[in-house]
Amino acid sequence: MKPDTTLRYGTLTRLFHWGMAACYLFMFATALAWNLDGSLKFLIGAHKAAGVLLLLMTFARFLWALKNLRRRPEGSLKAKLGHLALYALMFAAPASGMARQFEAPFGAAHGALAFLLLLLVGGHIAMTVLHQRKGEAVLQRMA
Ligand code: HEM
Ligand code: HEM
Repeated sequence: MKPDTTLRYGTLTRLFHWGMAACYLFMFATALAWNLDGSLKFLIGAHKAAGVLLLLMTFARFLWALKNLRRRPEGSLKAKLGHLALYALMFAAPASGMARQFEAPFGAAHGALAFLLLLLVGGHIAMTVLHQRKGEAVLQRMA
């Protein structure tokens, strides 16, 4: 297992990044599916289970990021703030899903928070493409 270095993210960081990205895809795909076709509401069970797992993984990934902060590739202040905002929503979206489950007031924000996360991920991917086109090999650090 390769550790994080200032040139490249390590094995565990990359596993977290791409494994969780696949889980988020599953979360949005299931929500879209049952909203388009009511007979697919049975997917809500898997959505909740994967969502709780994502919340737990976010805790582990965030602690891992803090532990390795000084050994990671350098980023601009804007990139750091962008990643921090992503983390905030990676916590808030599933937490609000759980609140919705227990009919707590914060639960009403679940759809909006999930949509915000989706928007931010869109921006995150756009920034990756932009940097890549400028000749900065950011994708190679995470790939
Ligand atoms: C990162 C994690 C999550 C994402 C990205 C996500 C995303 C979404 C999206 C986009 C919707 C559709 C919005 C709407 O129809 O209002 C939704 C609905 C819902 N989510 Fe999540 N969710 C996550 C985690 C969770 C968790 C952890 C739970 C509960 C344990 C949960 C429970 C629900 C419920 C109950 C609904 C509404 C189902 C219905 O239409 O009756 N979600 N979620
Ligand atoms: C096709 C999808 C994606 C691409 C191409 C992509 C690309 C990247 C790249 C190139 C980096 C390194 C940036 C740097 O060093 O400055 C990065 C880091 C990061 N990405 Fe993504 N990403 C994707 C999806 C996601 C998703 C879905 C999330 C979370 C919802 C996410 C959250 C993060 C975070 C928090 C970091 C900072 C490093 C860390 O703590 O893991 N990314 N991403």
